[in-house]
Amino acid sequence: MDRFYITTAIDYVNGAPHIGHAYEKILTDIIARHYSQRTNDMYFLTGTDEHGIKIQKTAAAKGISPKELCDENSQKFKDAWKALDINYNKFIRTTDDYHKKTVQKIFKKLVEQGDIYKNSYEGLYCSGCECFLNPKDLTEDGLCPDHLKKPDVVKEENYFFKLTKYKDAIIKHIKENPDFIVPAFRANEVLNQLEDIQDISVSRAKSNVKWGIDVLDDPEQSIYVWIDALSNYITAIGYDTENPSEDFKKYWPVDVHVIGKDILKFHSIYWPAFLLALDLPLPKHIFAHGWITIDETKMSKSLGNVISPTSVLESFELKEPDAFRYYMATSAPCGRDGNYSDDDFKEKVNAHLANSMGNLLNRTLSMLVKYFDGEVKEEFLISANNELVEGSQKLIKHALGTVKVVENHFNHFEIAEAAQEIMGIVDMANKFVTDNAPWTLAKEGKMTECGQVLTTVLEIMCVVTALIYPYCPNFAKEMARQLSFNLDAKLDDLTSDNIKCGKLISKEEIKPVFLRVDSELADKSAKK
Ligand code: MSP
Repeated sequence: MDRFYITTAIDYVNGAPHIGHAYEKILTDIIARHYSQRTNDMYFLTGTDEHGIKIQKTAAAKGISPKELCDENSQKFKDAWKALDINYNKFIRTTDDYHKKTVQKIFKKLVEQGDIYKNSYEGLYCSGCECFLNPKDLTEDGLCPDHLKKPDVVKEENYFFKLTKYKDAIIKHIKENPDFIVPAFRANEVLNQLEDIQDISVSRAKSNVKWGIDVLDDPEQSIYVWIDALSNYITAIGYDTENPSEDFKKYWPVDVHVIGKDILKFHSIYWPAFLLALDLPLPKHIFAHGWITIDETKMSKSLGNVISPTSVLESFELKEPDAFRYYMATSAPCGRDGNYSDDDFKEKVNAHLANSMGNLLNRTLSMLVKYFDGEVKEEFLISANNELVEGSQKLIKHALGTVKVVENHFNHFEIAEAAQEIMGIVDMANKFVTDNAPWTLAKEGKMTECGQVLTTVLEIMCVVTALIYPYCPNFAKEMARQLSFNLDAKLDDLTSDNIKCGKLISKEEIKPVFLRVDSELADKSAKK
């Protein structure tokens, strides 16, 4: 694997980021950090989607210009991602000049080659979705099923993209590449949607939608959000219709677009069609994650249950975002919906991160200090002809085997499933300590055996540190420090002898990795 290019959806800036947006960025950051342990060249793109009627209307209601609203809210997304340690390489804004220029060129090229044509049109437009709806998809009351709002009747001249021309090629691609859409169960949904696909409107009359990119040579039309928004994945890395950059040649096609299930149609039908029209290769994978609810209820402004990610950190007084990242990432199996609740958050991170993982490292190192002044002796190292404690070698081998299992989960974007495997090794190591009771061995004077038990666990904690790093980068750095373990190493370089002989740690250098979340704090209602 020589390089890995990963993107998130770009968020609308008509509001501030909430934990649904955060869920996606956390998943993407975890995948990116994991693959940076497998490749030397990682490129992670995120950003904000800033055009369209929704933003125009929100700005008007606030009495500010759309650009002012975009600047204000785009910054909120950047601040939130900083607080969550989202380690992106580039943040694109669709109001960036280079993006707008390239989108105009893409549009012009498609007009010139006959893939885009002008036609008059009457349709039902939902500004929540920023798209025209098919009347058969409305609720019984004629509302948009996602936004429960009556769509606007729009009659205008629009430019249309010949989606129907690419229908067969897309169907073939989906059928021949079963891992194009992840999870696979969503592919059928997309194939069904493809059945009655029509050509799509790709512009809006300027008289109705002012806040958009002008169509070159026809300034009475604004390029409608999806062709603008989707193109970010290539404009950000230097695509140009005539002279694409070296970065573009290196990174395209993208390895994975991480998006929510609600926008799968745009990514697995519209986007491939635009790319085919531009004669560009298709994305390797489109990973559609599920949605996050709050206390099992859909997040909505009207219910007042929208939670911002930074307020969770603040209300639990978390100095680092690691526990929140871990919780969100493990909230649902691949592609399924997840849920956030304060009680569940507390319970899970206390159990997994404080009690099982952090505490295991803490007590093992404390025993090493207590019994051996923090020194790993030659005879503690476990090898085929030096295994006094039954099962130590097997356990270390199992932990190393888990690295491959975790990698395989990541190959399928199974982030929660991979975390479960990692916690599985932690549980086995905890059981190994209980079963072999190093404190009893020490009491009985079986010091080499005692040392072997501790060294086995420390060896396993090195593997855990490397594997948990994408989820909890700060905790992993602290664990690596205490273990004198090189966290920059690639996963392939992990061996069974990460722990070396000699003084490992002193009493003063041992610190708890993660303190339990105080139950009192969870009752604060500051989050809403
Ligand atoms: N701007 C478009 C995406 C364009 S991508 C070329 C958009 N923006 S959005 O702000 O509405 O959503 C951004 C991402 O956040 C989407 O992938 C969406 O699925 C995700 N989520 C929004 N609410 C969510 C939850 N409640 N839960 C999980 N993800 C959610 O769509």
